[in-house]
Amino acid sequence: MLLRVVLFGGKGGVGKSTLACATALKLAKEGKTLLISIDPAHSLSGILQTQIGKHLSQIKENLFAIELLAEDLVENYANKVLSALGEMLPSLKSGLEEYAKHLKHSPTALETAVLDRLADYFNEDFLFVVIDSAPTGQMLRLFQTLKTVRGWFSFLEKLAKEREKVETFMGREDRVLKLMKMRREKVERLANILMEKGIIFAVANEDPLSIDEAVELERQLLGFKVYRVMNKYKSEGRDFLKVKHLEKPYGIEKLSLLNIEDLLRVIEV
Ligand SMILES: Nc1ncnc2c1ncn2[C@@H]1O[C@H](COP(=O)(O)OP(=O)(O)O)[C@@H](O)[C@H]1O
Ligand SMILES: [Mg+2]
Repeated sequence: MLLRVVLFGGKGGVGKSTLACATALKLAKEGKTLLISIDPAHSLSGILQTQIGKHLSQIKENLFAIELLAEDLVENYANKVLSALGEMLPSLKSGLEEYAKHLKHSPTALETAVLDRLADYFNEDFLFVVIDSAPTGQMLRLFQTLKTVRGWFSFLEKLAKEREKVETFMGREDRVLKLMKMRREKVERLANILMEKGIIFAVANEDPLSIDEAVELERQLLGFKVYRVMNKYKSEGRDFLKVKHLEKPYGIEKLSLLNIEDLLRVIEV
């Protein structure tokens, strides 16, 4: 059963990916772990010095990794939505193809597709899922999209309920409601997992701008467990979890030397 979902957010270059890799390596000692990069500018392969691609691969005992490819993800998600709708509403087939083009290019298509994929992974048999996220703005957009999609499916389900009444009255079977209910439940489950099992590390370094972003993440993600992390820590006296500077933390062996005890204490279940 899934125990924890650990997300790393913060300004570009603060060490999100490095800490995500180091954390996943440690958690894999406890049980089956997935390390997943949702940042379109992937860097897991370079940091771990192991080839990681768009398909799930095992990189160590109990450790699996993937770098989601944005284009494929959006394409697959749009096709999935369309085939489900097309099957149910064959009369709309040609209209749906037109809709597909818009869906793929809609402003939050990537975030929606990422959320859908995460929900699938949360249903697999991983104990830990570690997410290496894109910089602050994009991460906030992901959470905003979660809120939007929740509202959207809740509304669509209501609409489908009205439609079902008419269909039933006409003596026809209606499968749209079932689909909408399933979609809504999936997104609700995802939101609950993120709230109950999610830990968000808002990573910063000594750069004051990165500290501002970490504080902003914490402020905007109310209701989620957000912890500030000071990476490449040098000075004393800040209210942050701390990770010290380590010379070139690349490759599995070097990463294992990174002291992330502060983070593991928070993750501990
Ligand atoms: N604790 C650390 N000690 C030394 N170097 C680090 C540490 N954390 C990150 N780095 C280095 O900082 C750079 C940016 O790290 P990265 O994890 O790619 O940041 P992000 O994912 O936030 O963009 C990399 O060169 C990485 O090796
Ligand atoms: Mg990164």
